[in-house]
Amino acid sequence: MKEFKRYTVTSALPYANGPVHIGHLAGVYIPADIYVRYLRLKGKDVVFIGGSDEHGVPITIKARNEGVSPQDVVDKYHTIIKKSFEELGISFDIYSRTTSIIHHKTASDFFRKLYLDGKFVEKTSEQYYDVEAQQFLADRYIKGTCPHCSNEDAYGDQCEKCGTTLSPLDLINPRSALSGNQPILKETKHWYLPLEQYEPFLKKWILEDHKEWKANVYGQCKSWLDSGLQPRAVSRDLDWGVPVPVEGADGKVLYVWFDAPIGYISNTIEWAENTGNDWRKYWQDEEAKLVHFIGKDNIVFHCIIFPAMLKAHGSYILPENVPGNEFLNLENDKISTSRNWAVWLHEYLVEFPGKQDVLRYVLAANMPETKDNDFTWKDFQTRNNSELVAILGNFINRTAILTQKYYGGKVPALGTLTSFDQETLAEMAQYKDKVEKALETYHFREALKEAMNLARLGNKYLADTEPWILVKTDALRVETIMNISLQITANLSIVFEPFMPFTAEKIRTLLNIDTLGWEQLGKMDLVKAGHSVGTPFLLFDKIEDAEIEAQVNKLLNAKQANQNKVQVNQSKEVISFDDFSKLDIRTGTILEAERVPKTKKLLKLLIDTGIDKRTVVSGISEFYNPEDIIGKKVSILVNLAPREIKGIESHGMILMAENTKGELAFISCDKEFNNGSEIR
Ligand code: MF3
Ligand code: ZN
Repeated sequence: MKEFKRYTVTSALPYANGPVHIGHLAGVYIPADIYVRYLRLKGKDVVFIGGSDEHGVPITIKARNEGVSPQDVVDKYHTIIKKSFEELGISFDIYSRTTSIIHHKTASDFFRKLYLDGKFVEKTSEQYYDVEAQQFLADRYIKGTCPHCSNEDAYGDQCEKCGTTLSPLDLINPRSALSGNQPILKETKHWYLPLEQYEPFLKKWILEDHKEWKANVYGQCKSWLDSGLQPRAVSRDLDWGVPVPVEGADGKVLYVWFDAPIGYISNTIEWAENTGNDWRKYWQDEEAKLVHFIGKDNIVFHCIIFPAMLKAHGSYILPENVPGNEFLNLENDKISTSRNWAVWLHEYLVEFPGKQDVLRYVLAANMPETKDNDFTWKDFQTRNNSELVAILGNFINRTAILTQKYYGGKVPALGTLTSFDQETLAEMAQYKDKVEKALETYHFREALKEAMNLARLGNKYLADTEPWILVKTDALRVETIMNISLQITANLSIVFEPFMPFTAEKIRTLLNIDTLGWEQLGKMDLVKAGHSVGTPFLLFDKIEDAEIEAQVNKLLNAKQANQNKVQVNQSKEVISFDDFSKLDIRTGTILEAERVPKTKKLLKLLIDTGIDKRTVVSGISEFYNPEDIIGKKVSILVNLAPREIKGIESHGMILMAENTKGELAFISCDKEFNNGSEIR
């Protein structure tokens, strides 16, 4: 394997149109942070780049819906996102944004260079245009029916139901997301990156030279490359973004997926300016290793389009690896910002103060590395209580307490080793290699599991040697046992640093030591005899059922609120007055009511409709007892074609109001009107 002098590690720039949730964290930011913390512990030269992606159509749509400017939207979410990342300990060297001046200049220069070098193809084509709004309809401004799955709400760039990538012209029955009108086709000029020209290069570079990439990433690249690449438009008709820096491009901006990845470079430049570094060493030098952490929906952009852009430019290195993850689900349902089905980081930080590492641990342990995975609050609780508390916390706590109790907090000397001690120490020495191998190959779950196994080893060592019993008969032996336990504890402070930095810091406080480098991992003399350790305190607390139930209820409420929203906000399609006047609705009175045998919901009612007395079967028995509703005034649709329900002929339908919980209530006239009065 090639040794690199420097590391440039990027994590996908989240869109600043909403806060960050656990799906983003497990997919991108936790693995990236583990990786860079590990590299730093190894003393490597690494720059870790983050930032907000602040352009693109969805941000402008959100702004429009909320009656604010796009800048207002991104200012709000950039602040929330940046702060919550900081609090979780995501250790970016810089977290900037694509609305920065440096970024606009960098992206603009990048485009101009490609433009001047003749790397683009200019093409005039017909695109959808909203006459009323006087605007071209890019990407998400156009909606219609998906040609693959018939979803009626597919977007111009993608169908969210079946996941297919679309272009606006693929949509059946296109409509403008601005006005709902049917758009017209109108000519417009755009710049295209002719990806097909980069196909031979990409095929060799990925399919032959990077067989070591994760199977999910490699597989997606292969399928794109096998099906042949097409020219990609890199500009849009839009007024939010980086203006296209060429003559005659008024009203056009760079496509968000053209400018955003350049944001990695812009942010590195900004960091370098702030810290007196040379950014080129991280982007234009073969001795730098570039690694992109992303989620699976970003694979094509980072493995195919951005590398083609970098190649076209000519001065840049290419990513050495793109360890893309799959998706994390929440309680068996796809995480969704618009449905509020998510655990939001900024809320977690408030609701679980001081428990950053619990979330980091659980998300790393469940990381969707090879397939989609599920986060459940129950699992969160179990991992906290039976792993962090019962294994890691328990071992370190017992070690700290016994050291305090037997030796007043001074590290005892190591005496003669038994063969069991030797085995334990030999095993301890193996973890460095194991964890390192896993981390270097982006197997974060395995790395974490091995780290936890070191804590298990410690626990087992104490359980097998039982110093609390031996102390009465063989005090000298106990000194050795406690010395070894303290060495294991010091080892744990190193191995957990990348995963749980807050806990690693606490372990160091317990041991009263400074940060140890990765190279110390496995050693048995990390705390010297006679050294005074700190006062014991607990690393983790049990999480009670009530806390978990509260979180589950919060999610269920979100789901409920969301359903209400759909009901309240969305009416059915518009009908004509003629359609409405076909309904003959009258006031009536219930004369008789009885349950329909062998059914849960049905009542058989006899209704005086003013026209006649007739039988109606109604699904209301969960909400009304037959005896309570005799004499009740109701509204009845009398000209509904008769239907047979459970062997009973039903003539008409009683109108009911239904709330969001699915409960039913009668609709009645609020004055004493005769039966048969028309409702219209
Ligand atoms: N904002 C994009 C997303 O959330 C990711 C952009 S990554 C970058 O899917 F490379 F473009 F910056
Ligand atoms: Zn579809």
